[in-house]
Amino acid sequence: MRVLALLDGTLADPEAPLLRADDLAVTRGDGMFETILVVDREPRELGPHLDRLERSGELLEIPPPPRAAWERAVRAVVDAWPWESERELALKLVCSRGIDGGDGTPTGFALGTPVGADALRKRREGISAITLDRGYAPDLKDRAPWLLLSAKTLSYAVNMAALREAERRGADEVVFTATDGSVLEGPTSTVVVARGRTLRTPPPNAGILPGTTQGALFRAAEKAGWETSVEPIDRAELFEADGVWMASSVRLITQVRSIDGTEIKATAELQQELGDLYESQY
Ligand SMILES: Cc1ncc(COP(=O)(O)O)c(C=O)c1O
Repeated sequence: MRVLALLDGTLADPEAPLLRADDLAVTRGDGMFETILVVDREPRELGPHLDRLERSGELLEIPPPPRAAWERAVRAVVDAWPWESERELALKLVCSRGIDGGDGTPTGFALGTPVGADALRKRREGISAITLDRGYAPDLKDRAPWLLLSAKTLSYAVNMAALREAERRGADEVVFTATDGSVLEGPTSTVVVARGRTLRTPPPNAGILPGTTQGALFRAAEKAGWETSVEPIDRAELFEADGVWMASSVRLITQVRSIDGTEIKATAELQQELGDLYESQY
């Protein structure tokens, strides 16, 4: 099942070709995207996702289509989704620089797909992770803005290669580390660490994406009396924590059970508590 909408709010055949062969999404991965979870017709964190899409557009110097156009496309997909058989929908917003040598009009669309069985299993059972070197220092983002380190660009080939490396090593997920050994993020998720009643996550100025799911979790946790902190986390701290999670829009707050083959603390109670806190926002 797939539902595809264009930015004027019209639906298109998801099985028919949509992009030209010379669209810069295809030839250079030159664009940005977002993936949003929709539950019972309600898109989660739509505002923060559209804010981040705009921010990616600024970093890429692509004038993003107006917010109202995205909202129209989101609504069109949500309205056409078969809610009688599917309770959730993963909604991808994609925007490229447009045609190579064209007039600069960006290409944009919204594509809805079911939440896959793999994501559902990871939510339920948790994951094993490995750490992999991302190869840059945590202060590189500001020194080299052309590397687009905190933009959510369409160039995810490296992120997907890292996940295949995890699979080769018998693990589900990757925690990227910087050259100084500090924790960055997953290829498609944010790292959250619990120590006592404090939740921590690494800072976006280390060249990672500010996560909308982590943001929602921290908002709820603060209301419930947790301390939260956005600060560097050393790889060694993952092994001493009371729990580690990978947060992302579709897999939600996924508990990490082992890192680099070593079991870490992963209690059912904290998983339930953080899952409930996140859900309390909706
Ligand atoms: C590199 C990266 N970091 C973090 C995230 C988590 O962001 P969100 O919670 O907004 O899905 C994603 C999402 O796909 C991502 O690609």
